[in-house]
Amino acid sequence: MSEKLRVAILGATGMVGQRFIMILNNHPWFEVATVAASPRSAGKTYEEAVGDHWKMDDPIPEAVKNLVVKDVTDVKGVSADVDFVLSAVNMSKDEIKKIEEEYAKTETPVVSNNSAHRWTPDVPMIIPEINPGHTDVIEFQKKRLGTQKGFIAVKPNCSIQSYTPALAAWKEYEPYEVVATTYQAISGAGKNFNEWPEMVGNIIPFISGEEEKSEQEPLRIFGHIENGVIVPSTSPVITTQCIRVPVLYGHTAATFVRFKKDPTKEELIEKLVNFAGKPQELGLPSAPKQFIQYLEEDDRPQIAKDVYYEGGMGVSIGRLRKDTLYDWKFVGLSHNTLRGAAGGAVECAELLKALGYIQAK
Ligand SMILES: NC(=O)c1ccc[n+]([C@@H]2O[C@H](COP(=O)([O-])OP(=O)(O)OC[C@H]3O[C@@H](n4cnc5c(N)ncnc54)[C@H](OP(=O)(O)O)[C@@H]3O)[C@@H](O)[C@H]2O)c1
Repeated sequence: MSEKLRVAILGATGMVGQRFIMILNNHPWFEVATVAASPRSAGKTYEEAVGDHWKMDDPIPEAVKNLVVKDVTDVKGVSADVDFVLSAVNMSKDEIKKIEEEYAKTETPVVSNNSAHRWTPDVPMIIPEINPGHTDVIEFQKKRLGTQKGFIAVKPNCSIQSYTPALAAWKEYEPYEVVATTYQAISGAGKNFNEWPEMVGNIIPFISGEEEKSEQEPLRIFGHIENGVIVPSTSPVITTQCIRVPVLYGHTAATFVRFKKDPTKEELIEKLVNFAGKPQELGLPSAPKQFIQYLEEDDRPQIAKDVYYEGGMGVSIGRLRKDTLYDWKFVGLSHNTLRGAAGGAVECAELLKALGYIQAK
């Protein structure tokens, strides 16, 4: 028998689900045992269910092609043969909330891409390099759910990953006001250009719900545990505008920061490039060796050259310079479906396995 942990992917046929399939192909710790999606796909082989909606560059892995897709709502059936689930379903928030709790209550840990549980007070929202200690809240959540092994952990929105790592690296200089404008890829909406031809040569200055997430979620990441719940930080105050741009992969953020302290440019760059966390310490399989790179060239970071830095799990920062109104400004870039979605969730699952929260059933 394989010693790898068996995982079910909920929403396996979607954009993030497909990324999960590719990342987990030959993963050293995890193997895809079950794929689940809507009743439209249930009963078909994975290959049939995906049909011409396969969006990855490489073909569907052989090990997954012929798995028969289960219905996400068949909680008992899906959870029966797996050690944990990775969730990327597109249902209503209330439905996702309910179903992810149902999975946790079958003693199946859930690591989710969805926003439904991001503000449930005892559910940790984790960027493994920044707040791995929030996993401590899981014990309180298990008490509420009445479970021994089952719990929910989530990863934050893709938009925040191009500036939040820099703010974390600069914590000792006390950033207290941040303005960020994000330029977000169309894959963030689960689409490519064939499915969204209106985006060719176009910009749309609205992404539903995105600005609220971009402003609030970093504060929860920077929060602390008190009385069994995560208490969000009140600083820095963040204001954002989120804009959809004609790019397939990669979210860029033009960011302005005010600090209470007065760091030099050299100090800021030094903190970025030396920023490392628990994933690097534990040598997690998906962890980038260097989480943040700093690029000196005036025309970097750019999508074409930098979005796959560290296999899409690293963050690229450039154009750090003094500002006339704020203290400093910079441009950040991260891959939205790798670091920002499936890759971030897999790294989170690796952290939870390394810390003993996810085990073989
Ligand atoms: N794309 C990104 O970069 C990104 C980043 C962060 C978070 N997210 C979040 O991740 C989730 C998935 O995003 P996505 O872009 O992968 O979406 P997507 O491409 O639209 O895929 C949605 C998946 O959910 C399934 N689904 C849809 N309706 C369902 C239902 N009623 N019952 C059960 N399954 C259902 C679909 O199955 P069928 O194929 O059978 O319809 C498909 O597998 C969303 O909550 C999204 O907000 C996405």
